[in-house]
Amino acid sequence: MKTIHFAPLQGYTTYIYRQVHARYAGGVDAYYTPFIRWEKGQVRNKDINDILPEHNENICLIPQIICSDTDELKRLTDIVASYGYKQININLGCPAPMQTKLMRGSGMLPHPDKLESLLKEVENYKQDVNFSVKMRLGFENNDEWRQLTDLLNESCVNQIIMHPRVGKQMYKGEVDMDAFQEFYELCTKPLFYNGDIVSLDQLRTIEEKYPKLSGIMLGRALLGQPFLATEYKNGVINDEERRRIILDMHDDLFAYCVDKYKADSQVLLHIHAFWEYMEPYMIRKQWKKLMKAGSMKNYKEALKQI
Ligand SMILES: Cc1cc2nc3c(=O)[nH]c(=O)nc-3n(C[C@H](O)[C@H](O)[C@H](O)COP(=O)(O)O)c2cc1C
Repeated sequence: MKTIHFAPLQGYTTYIYRQVHARYAGGVDAYYTPFIRWEKGQVRNKDINDILPEHNENICLIPQIICSDTDELKRLTDIVASYGYKQININLGCPAPMQTKLMRGSGMLPHPDKLESLLKEVENYKQDVNFSVKMRLGFENNDEWRQLTDLLNESCVNQIIMHPRVGKQMYKGEVDMDAFQEFYELCTKPLFYNGDIVSLDQLRTIEEKYPKLSGIMLGRALLGQPFLATEYKNGVINDEERRRIILDMHDDLFAYCVDKYKADSQVLLHIHAFWEYMEPYMIRKQWKKLMKAGSMKNYKEALKQI
């Protein structure tokens, strides 16, 4: 049985989502925040709000930062660590051009010198904070990892999560399992696999094929099937129990959105994100009705049919 981590998904895995997931679905050993960035001379209030300890009680939370140089790393780390976090994840995988053009995320992968500086800075925090990295194989080419592996193996990074795509692919095309196999053999750090796992069978295949993995990170699969991690750990549950978990998560999230947002349109926007990745696992007509509901009345009608 491998450790399961819930991947960060900007716009989806907010603190309230993580809370309701932990409360009703469970099975996850650690949650990550979507990346926290340095923007216009500060960290956005929204990102600080997301890491406040009072918003993350009873879960293991690993804040994620994205940075282009040691200055940004220091600023972000000092802020995040001031909230008591002892483990921080560095994003080396984000494919969004807004970030990669600043040499952040996967945009740093073609620049070993840049990564080397970051890893040296990380060394200075050794007494107080541990760092892990979440990376891709490269930005443009699937062999860029080769010039980074020694740097990472020799650094004090305590975990690597590999999503075997390149940044240019965004989330399209296949994961490159041949390249992952090579990285798996050369990586001497505790390693997590991430990418395109959507079923218990796939989880078990990865577990068997890569016995020295420390764990598996799941993203979109958990948004679509929030109970997947708990089923992996505790056994398959029936359809009624699955439905109950989803509706309990929904009801708490919906109550939070109604309380937080004044306009119905905003409530609907946020609650639509909850259903978005569930399309393959629902009756299509019911899913469409929920997603297309433009008024609260229609949304509540659609909900009754689930
Ligand atoms: C909408 C969306 C937002 C994402 N936001 C982040 C993020 O903030 N930080 C990060 O490291 N990865 C982010 N990712 C990537 C996921 O964490 C994960 O690596 C990717 O979806 C592959 O895993 P999966 O196939 O299990 O979903 C995001 C992906 C999506 C689709």
